[in-house]
Amino acid sequence: MTETKDWLKASWDAGSSLLRPVGERIAGDGRAPLMVPIRSLGPRYRERIAAHLLALDPADRYLRFGYAASDDQIRRYAEQLNFERDDIFGIYNRRLELIAMAHLAYTTLPGHQNCAEFGVSVLKSARGRGYGARLFERAVMHARNEGVSMVFIHALSENAAMLKIARNAGAVVQRDGTESEAFLQLPPASLDTRMTELVEQQYAEVDYQFKRQAKQFWDFLAGVQRVREGS
Ligand SMILES: CC(C)(COP(=O)(O)OP(=O)(O)OC[C@H]1O[C@@H](n2cnc3c(N)ncnc32)[C@H](O)[C@@H]1OP(=O)(O)O)[C@@H](O)C(=O)NCCC(=O)NCCS
Repeated sequence: MTETKDWLKASWDAGSSLLRPVGERIAGDGRAPLMVPIRSLGPRYRERIAAHLLALDPADRYLRFGYAASDDQIRRYAEQLNFERDDIFGIYNRRLELIAMAHLAYTTLPGHQNCAEFGVSVLKSARGRGYGARLFERAVMHARNEGVSMVFIHALSENAAMLKIARNAGAVVQRDGTESEAFLQLPPASLDTRMTELVEQQYAEVDYQFKRQAKQFWDFLAGVQRVREGS
């Protein structure tokens, strides 16, 4: 039974973690240091997910999927995403374009049910702002809350940014020639990780609704402007 004071403390910590500045990362506690609204994406976002991945150039597709994925293969990947089993997280810009997304795929292999694979992509225009690392932290926290005990990443050994994200989080990286595997053992969920996730979800939802309304407003104004120009 959780005591009220523990709930209050966890809620307070979850709220204040959103306001911690970049750079104050606390490894392994699953808390979020960066104020980046990250939303959980459902099947309604399949097209936007496909559009995001199709915007990756051939080199990035190779890094993301481990092969030079064609447009058709990317569309198939998006069509086959299993939102019931897996979790997809996304970051939007003000125009509601999906600029970064992560896929946490839970393994179904016998004996590995408590493992999940992490894959991520950030559009070139949005790189170097910490979004990749932030998506990883978010996915790891969610995985802990889902009872996952190990997250792994399959990356090409040349993928310095991805391996840096993994190492920074404390993952063990095993290199096998041109390919590498990173393994991160996760501690069990805590009241902190659960509260933080709730607060972050709420924050991301509010942010998304603001952006949606602002976009509708600007689209409306642009429409009015077009009518004026046409008259
Ligand atoms: C890998 C990827 C997601 C990183 O996204 P990002 O938002 O630019 O990464 P971040 O800004 O969070 O940076 C993470 C770390 O990598 C470092 N980094 C970023 N780019 C780097 C590069 N080209 N070389 C070396 N390190 C790099 C950053 O300095 C940071 O480390 P720090 O926190 O110690 O300073 C992005 O490059 C990408 O989408 N690549 C193509 C797809 C891919 O490779 N996916 C991963 C395979 S699943």
